[in-house]
Amino acid sequence: MQGVDWLAILHPALAVVLIYPLIGMVIRLGIQARHRRLGDRKLPATSGSEHTDLGRWLSAGVVIIVLIALVSAIVTHQPLSELSGGLPRGLQLLLVLLGTSISLVALWHATAKALRLLFALLTWLGVISLGAQSEVWRLSDNPLDPQFWQSHYWAGVAVTGLMLFSLGARPEILRQLGWRRIHVAANLLAAVLFTIQGITGTRDLLEIPLGWQKSTLYQCDSKGMVCPPLSSKTTP
Ligand code: HEM
Ligand code: HEM
Repeated sequence: MQGVDWLAILHPALAVVLIYPLIGMVIRLGIQARHRRLGDRKLPATSGSEHTDLGRWLSAGVVIIVLIALVSAIVTHQPLSELSGGLPRGLQLLLVLLGTSISLVALWHATAKALRLLFALLTWLGVISLGAQSEVWRLSDNPLDPQFWQSHYWAGVAVTGLMLFSLGARPEILRQLGWRRIHVAANLLAAVLFTIQGITGTRDLLEIPLGWQKSTLYQCDSKGMVCPPLSSKTTP
């Protein structure tokens, strides 16, 4: 494996090692928090606060691994010296990345409602702006096309938005029943999307060749599912 290949597996590896175990714990504690609120006194009183603490790390973790995936897609698409738009575009993208990361940190610390809304939207906007770059491969951008619904990118953007919503609306979820209901509904959808990400992510991993194989494998016709025959080397 070359450096670019290690960079490409950083996102899936972090998803498998950190994010999915965290998802399991957050869901379990969320269910416990609900049962306890509904009157089961045998459950630990800390379920709610532990759910919230780990939920914050889950939200931030998802944004971070998505940013890693997007940066990796952009920088490994071509040698950096051949980046379309050159240095000015490179600096612009770097600024968006920096702004998105600062918004995430600000969202983590913000308490005022307006600031939480602003930073959650800014962070999501940053993810979408980086994702919109031509180097980031997407199956389809048309919701009427069945491929759109199998896209690892679009489900990733959607679940990132749902995580940012939970992180931003924490005080409301804690205090108001209506918000708690919206939170549970949103995160049932998030759980489905996380499952889909596990499937489409491993599919993509299977489809992406190692750096040294690309020049040969990209000659294949992926729609017709055929590759040109390899030129046979004659050994003396
Ligand atoms: C897969 C992700 C998640 C699921 C399935 C989930 C589910 C739940 C459930 C079932 C409850 C209990 C609702 C009730 O009492 O009726 C809850 C409460 C709550 N959740 Fe989540 N949640 C998730 C992620 C998050 C995240 C990322 C945060 C953000 C930090 C968060 C913050 C909260 C808060 C503040 C409460 C109220 C806790 C309490 O009553 O002490 N959750 N969640
Ligand atoms: C927490 C759940 C996950 C989210 C939110 C997520 C999100 C994303 C996003 C937004 C991208 C960039 C767009 C793209 O290139 O498709 C991406 C790329 C990628 N992800 Fe994930 N992902 C998740 C889990 C996984 C898992 C579990 C795997 C595999 C084990 C995986 C494998 C990949 C691969 C291989 C790419 C690069 C695809 C390419 O360049 O065509 N992801 N992911």
